Amino acid sequence: CGIVGYVGTKAAAGVLVEGLEKLEYRGYDSAGIAVMEDHKINVVKAKGRLKNLEQKMEHHGTPFGSIGIGHTRWATHGEPSDVNSHPHGNERVTIVHNGIIENYVQLKEKMIAKGYEFLSETDTEVIAVLLDYYYDGNPVETIIRVIDNLKGSYALGIMFVDTPDTLYAVRKDSPLIVGVGEDENFIASDIPAILKYTRSYYLLEENEIAVLQRNHVTIVDHDNEPVVKELFTATWDIEAAEKGGYPHFMLKEIHEQPKALVNTLSPRMVDGIPDFGIKALSDDILKSFKRIYIVACGTAMHAGMVGKAAIEHLVRIPVEVDVASEFRYRNPILSKEDDLVIIISQSGETADTLAALRLAKDQGVHTLAIVNVVGSSIAREANSVLYTWAGPEIAVASTKAYSVQVAMMYLFAIQLAHVKEMISVDQTKILCAELMEIPQLVERVLETADNCQFYASKFQNAHDIFFIGRGLDYALSLEGSLKLKEISYIHSDAHPAGELKHGTISLITEEMPVIAVATQTALMEKMVSNIKEVITRGAKVLLLCKTGQDEMDQLTDYVIELPKCNDFFTPLLAVVPLQLFAYYTAVLRGCDVDKPRNLAKSVTVE
Ligand code: G6P
Repeated sequence: CGIVGYVGTKAAAGVLVEGLEKLEYRGYDSAGIAVMEDHKINVVKAKGRLKNLEQKMEHHGTPFGSIGIGHTRWATHGEPSDVNSHPHGNERVTIVHNGIIENYVQLKEKMIAKGYEFLSETDTEVIAVLLDYYYDGNPVETIIRVIDNLKGSYALGIMFVDTPDTLYAVRKDSPLIVGVGEDENFIASDIPAILKYTRSYYLLEENEIAVLQRNHVTIVDHDNEPVVKELFTATWDIEAAEKGGYPHFMLKEIHEQPKALVNTLSPRMVDGIPDFGIKALSDDILKSFKRIYIVACGTAMHAGMVGKAAIEHLVRIPVEVDVASEFRYRNPILSKEDDLVIIISQSGETADTLAALRLAKDQGVHTLAIVNVVGSSIAREANSVLYTWAGPEIAVASTKAYSVQVAMMYLFAIQLAHVKEMISVDQTKILCAELMEIPQLVERVLETADNCQFYASKFQNAHDIFFIGRGLDYALSLEGSLKLKEISYIHSDAHPAGELKHGTISLITEEMPVIAVATQTALMEKMVSNIKEVITRGAKVLLLCKTGQDEMDQLTDYVIELPKCNDFFTPLLAVVPLQLFAYYTAVLRGCDVDKPRNLAKSVTVE
């Protein structure tokens, strides 16, 4: 979910809706705003996209006033509906909430026993009721008493009717920033929501409470003592958060990949050798790692799969990749002497990934975060952080963030192999030079867009599509398959090509197209056999291979060719046509490419 709050001189409703537009990537099941004027709070909310809320205001009037809070929701407790939409409140207080209150059932029962009635099924309403119950005339003391009762995660924007010029905010395990403007101040889940008005912001820490008036911001700790905070300046430009002529953010972000790769790789290259410049990760510390865990969710986890192959190949130490929601509950076997835990996350706020990081830290294991959003929770809490410089990624389906995560994994693998003397200085330099050529090659691969669109038109009516590959191509197939299903709603799965015959091949018919990724020379013959196995059973095959592979080309009429490069790095090239294929398939099927159903970009709930 995304939350935003405003106190200033402008009409709050407009500022809130604009802010919510920028936060819609965090969820879009419903949206709502509450605006206060003269001790009265007016709430408007609507199920579905933000435009439904705007239409509702056009028909029934826009609430007037220059202080307010807004929310865009990704449903957890309670179906998406008008009544379950935020803001929630009562005669005394109105709130917006991002997160999950784990003990809300107990709290709700307790408050029902005290005579309170509930309108919605949400956990959030419980917080509003508690704020009313504990209210003692001092909002900050009341908030402190309420959060002491809450278990779970929350970022809250709060308005009390008794203090009509003041906005309150507090957070735990869900992100929240406080934007500082001129004669106006803001709260928001993320920077893009306030960029139009200000670049200055505070990062609210766990259980700090922000008190905002038009011309004043105070932040206090859990004991109601003021805290001195560093004021940050956002460096993202507004254009980077706009579509810039592309029909969708996803297509724009696919095309931004060469630049994102250069921005991520070049600053870490000194004299042709990787140099991360991180004190906490000195050569001696790097040398000491004997095993690595890579933990992440979704696309970031797929980047970790490529990372595993790269590190194991060059460094010859075991690497485990785990989905964060599994890792944290399976009591992982960690050794603080030998292990490194790498956490990968675009947003730096994914709840399960953050919890996995904390688990590793609690056990004294060194944690390295690979994160895109500067100042995010994961970036701040990890022992070391390597930022990917992809710029803001808005489309829910991740593209450029994946590429830079993969690039960072390669760089890290080369660095580790170099430090552990698994490769010579010359080999290190050659690998780095090859890696630095990838952005230009990606530029060339982007020229396959028309081809990808053509093949998308051939496959768009499929009910299911399989992706097959071996080694690095399998790791990549997982991402290609996720991209396709998440935005086009065509069911798809990725399988190791050699494993198909152990069950899944029974599903292959003329109705089941197969996308075969075959870029690895050492595995070429095996892939040819696997492709023949599916063609024999009627499958139409779209092949992704390197240029000049005659034996491959003859297998099928549908081929996308990639420029020549070291096999080791091909995932960085091969992912591009898979992204474009997914994109065009979704467009042809009339899907909402940037905001696929049921998904959210930043998942701050478990
Ligand atoms: C969500 C998004 C995915 C993303 C995953 C991990 O599910 O829809 O695209 O890969 O979260 O996000 P993170 O911000 O941690 O990389």
